[in-house]
Amino acid sequence: MKNLVVLISGRGSNLQALLATARAEDWERTIELRVAAVISNRADAAGLQIAREFGVAVQVLSHLDFSDREGFDIALARAIDVHRPELVVLAGFMRVLTRTFVEHFAGRLLNVHPSLLPAFPGLATHRQALAAGVRVHGATVHFVSSDVDAGPIVAQGAVGVRPDDNEESLAQRVLALEHQLLPRCVALVARGDIWLERDQVRARATAASQLALLG
Ligand code: GRF
Repeated sequence: MKNLVVLISGRGSNLQALLATARAEDWERTIELRVAAVISNRADAAGLQIAREFGVAVQVLSHLDFSDREGFDIALARAIDVHRPELVVLAGFMRVLTRTFVEHFAGRLLNVHPSLLPAFPGLATHRQALAAGVRVHGATVHFVSSDVDAGPIVAQGAVGVRPDDNEESLAQRVLALEHQLLPRCVALVARGDIWLERDQVRARATAASQLALLG
């Protein structure tokens, strides 16, 4: 059985989508993958309750208990390594990670970001998209590199921006895409249909049709 560890900081709707898909598609049997643990850097993250409801082990490791980023990331890497994960997913994990951490999990670390990277890294992506006047916006799942919201792209989902959109309406449609995209990418990587090779994403031909999603 391969293990997956999910890192969260808040609401946990992507975690919920992941756990629901894992259950519905019976990943433990079909891809021999199980969500071994959910780790949050915030004790008040609503996603912790979602994990518990799915019977997944949870751990809180507060960054506030550490005097520097390096110390926190070392402790976090240790907490993750206990589970010997095949894959680590950042599902709304709102921390900038050190190079050492990212290198330790190279090729095994996925993030979901609410924009069509490389456009709009960072926060308030929907506000950024509206301000820029783009006509197409979306979500990206990528392998993590040590720059913020950067790294080889696995898959993207796009939605059209409507003239009457506001931040909230746009966020809602993009989030719905994230919820489809993230579980799909996790399954593809866990199955070995997608992998990282010298900083390039490689995919089996059979996976190609699943890498772009139009909302
Ligand atoms: C998502 O939009 C994710 O892409 C971003 O933070 C948000 C987390 O939402 N990194 P949730 O906690 O998964 O509901």
